[in-house]
Amino acid sequence: MSRPKKKVYIKTFGCQMNVADSEQMAQVLSPEYVLTDRPDDADLYLINTCAIRKKSEEKVRSLLGSLRALKQKRPQMLLGVGGCVAQQEGERLLAAVPHLDLVFGTHGIYRLPELVRRASLKRQLDVALNEGFPAAPPRRWQPGSAQALVTIMQGCNNFCSFCVVPYVRGREYSRPSAEVVAEIQEFLAAGGKEVTLLGQNVNSYGRGLAKPVTFPQLLRRLSELPDLARLRFATSHPKDLSVELMALFSELEPLCEHLHLPLQSGSNRILAAMNRSYSREHYLEKVEKLRRFSPDLSLTTDLIVGFPGETEADFQDTLELVQEVAFQQAFCFKYSPRPQTRAASLPEQLPEEVKAERLARLLELQDRLTLAAHQRLVGQVREVLVEGESKRSADELTGRLRTNQVVNFSGPPELIGQLVSVEITEAHPHSLKGRWVAEPSPHSRRPVVEGEPRRLSC
Ligand code: 5AD
Ligand code: SF4
Repeated sequence: MSRPKKKVYIKTFGCQMNVADSEQMAQVLSPEYVLTDRPDDADLYLINTCAIRKKSEEKVRSLLGSLRALKQKRPQMLLGVGGCVAQQEGERLLAAVPHLDLVFGTHGIYRLPELVRRASLKRQLDVALNEGFPAAPPRRWQPGSAQALVTIMQGCNNFCSFCVVPYVRGREYSRPSAEVVAEIQEFLAAGGKEVTLLGQNVNSYGRGLAKPVTFPQLLRRLSELPDLARLRFATSHPKDLSVELMALFSELEPLCEHLHLPLQSGSNRILAAMNRSYSREHYLEKVEKLRRFSPDLSLTTDLIVGFPGETEADFQDTLELVQEVAFQQAFCFKYSPRPQTRAASLPEQLPEEVKAERLARLLELQDRLTLAAHQRLVGQVREVLVEGESKRSADELTGRLRTNQVVNFSGPPELIGQLVSVEITEAHPHSLKGRWVAEPSPHSRRPVVEGEPRRLSC
């Protein structure tokens, strides 16, 4: 009889890339470990960390502090830290946290089983960065999981002056397209419906591959897979967004009408200081082109306020551009100086109060724009991919439109994982409420009702 498996608990901080990495951790450990959602029960407790802003790093440090008691109670439990903070801090983290058994960086995931075995004898550190995309072990998809995050690139070569990613995730490498296609085929064969391709800058996918392929070519290839209902990708850098890629939004049926296009600032002076390689005029031009190809396209973005040297006039430029583009949603952050980055040593760092006040004004504007975009959807019938029970009520289901807005509605749990038609009945600041109007519609790739006008959603 085989031995019962041990239990691993994984706490994930940060972006979708980290969520995908945590899934890979669970996968590589699966011959010896099963996932548990109870930390007190775990034989192995892993924290997958984010270093993008100081606040994310502080959350990790505070969790590590609070885990001292658990480790004292259960000394046989192994405690490991992986991801971006682990990559950035390495040895320093082991020195600062005596109850930590293992520190592994962003490229250490595939070496995890061996590292964990060794960590039971001696504390381990592995922050080596690989050359090339590591040979990913084949994924096994859970039957019934409708959505998949598929990493197609790692690292970044852009060196935006505020950003720590190139230092903690290393240089940019693409994953061979045959591997990407095979992984997605397997997911679809297990009943999957929606795929999100992940990379720091997917537009530059394919550079340096032995068998060169561009990102538009990859999207075309994937769109031919007959069972793929929805295809998404993140993140795009505006400077590399080509007309060829924009045109695909009107051409490829599974490609959802949503694009996350980080703007960061509306001021040309600040964009230059950020090393973003585009101006507000270039950005606007791309948005106009995109909307010509896909009038229903929902645009979301990232914005930073309080970058060193940002004046009130620079900030006004951001507000004005946000208003003009009318983003469906924006993730807004106060600038946070990060180790090794160029902006951290710029002289004109702004006081916290100025950053907080600008952030509040920006959020107030964006909340109004989001609500207005939501209100325009009321009365329409749209396709929803049902993701699960809603957080607020077990009687409600939650899902997303192709244009990425969250919709909550009443319906039986059997709908989870299905594509259904929902009439939007109410607009809220962060979500929509709807009414389920039809049976599951597995073949529907577009908004469901025939002849429905594909209105602008933002
Ligand atoms: N300070 C604040 N926000 C940051 N981001 C990246 N680095 C920083 C930083 N140092 C934001 C950017 C990026 C998003 C993922 O996080 O807006 O697009
Ligand atoms: Fe960071 Fe810029 Fe690379 Fe995005 S493109 S990961 S913001 S360096």
